[in-house]
Amino acid sequence: MSYSQKIKDAHDLLHSKDYCYTDKRGWLDFPAQITDHDIKNIQNFSEIISKKCDILIITGIGGSYLGIRAALEFLKSCHYNYFNKPEVFFVGNNMSEGYINNILRICESKDICINIISKSGSTIECMMAFRIFRKFMEEKYGKSESRERIFCTTSTNNNNLHEICLSENYKVFDIPENIGGRYSILTNVGLVPLSILGIDIKKILQGAIKARQDFMNLDNICYKYAIIRNILCNKNKKIEIIAGFEPRLKYLFEWWKQLFGESEGKNKKGIFPSSLIYSTDLHSMGQFVQDGTPIFFETMLSFKKINQNFNIKLPYDNKNLDNLNYLAGKNIEYVNSQAFQATVYAHSHANTPVINIEIDEIDECNLGYLIYFFEKACAISAHLLKVDPFNQPGVESYKTKMFELLKNN
Ligand code: PA5
Repeated sequence: MSYSQKIKDAHDLLHSKDYCYTDKRGWLDFPAQITDHDIKNIQNFSEIISKKCDILIITGIGGSYLGIRAALEFLKSCHYNYFNKPEVFFVGNNMSEGYINNILRICESKDICINIISKSGSTIECMMAFRIFRKFMEEKYGKSESRERIFCTTSTNNNNLHEICLSENYKVFDIPENIGGRYSILTNVGLVPLSILGIDIKKILQGAIKARQDFMNLDNICYKYAIIRNILCNKNKKIEIIAGFEPRLKYLFEWWKQLFGESEGKNKKGIFPSSLIYSTDLHSMGQFVQDGTPIFFETMLSFKKINQNFNIKLPYDNKNLDNLNYLAGKNIEYVNSQAFQATVYAHSHANTPVINIEIDEIDECNLGYLIYFFEKACAISAHLLKVDPFNQPGVESYKTKMFELLKNN
């Protein structure tokens, strides 16, 4: 069957009335359905919270964590906390006692608010951290003041977290039932905390709405990406490395890994998603990518323009003992861009297929577009593989064993 037919089938299925897979397709239309009134409500609430705290604690894991951090670092940088208020710390995304102890210590002398995010309202990492921080807050502020500082994003179908919210009178933001965790960044999951952290959520949604329109026709870049991945997978390229030359991409790549890993990796099928940040990782993994077992392809994320309001040029040095004067007067960004071109050249000449996704510039609108691009490419890719993009049966196995161990020991 031709790819044009395969894509038509995958597209028709994704937009069909009767869906044969887990029907969690709400993310397809949500950015266009959220009203100005809803956005205004989030923004008004954000203003109150951002004035009230030095630190926002975000408690969540997986789809209730990665997208927020991805968007924040992409738009503001990985050094966000050094330049902005409120600062943000993420808990509930691991079970390290040392990690949570550090965050508690950081919070001792600061005013804090907490956003707990959990669709199921029962995820152990997240709920344990929440219990610890609720106690911390109640000791610091008392019960009544804590109510003004704790708010929850969850599904309102009476899960454990929702029960706590009802009993303690915490503000609740709803997560739509028909949107799964890894597709939920453009719902209250991401919109509420990102707005508190000073990001224009309306522009993110505008970018996603534009992508939604662009990807309704069959001939689009999103479906092309899905086709190329599928062709490469059939040629035994079973690992995709997403790579970029900006540290701000680290968590976007983590979010992307969860999206593709949980959506495609089932029934013994799928491309293993991995990520590298260059040029850092060229000095650790560069050898393997250039010359190792040829089982991967590379998807580069690059920018036409990096809109930064600074200008760091390499200074001229009279002694030139480091032999760098040939670069004197050049921006660091220029050197970075040459490294990017050299890497694409070297890797593709070593027979590693390289896809380049070029983003115009770093802003909210482009981020919204990119998020929707990957979400739809992922769903279409899963359809091409004939797997359910919206379930994750595999993640339950370890949990069953863990709870057995915890309850019996
Ligand atoms: O994509 C998913 O469904 C998961 O990664 C969840 O987001 C993650 O397990 C967290 O679940 P919850 O939001 O229910 O706490």
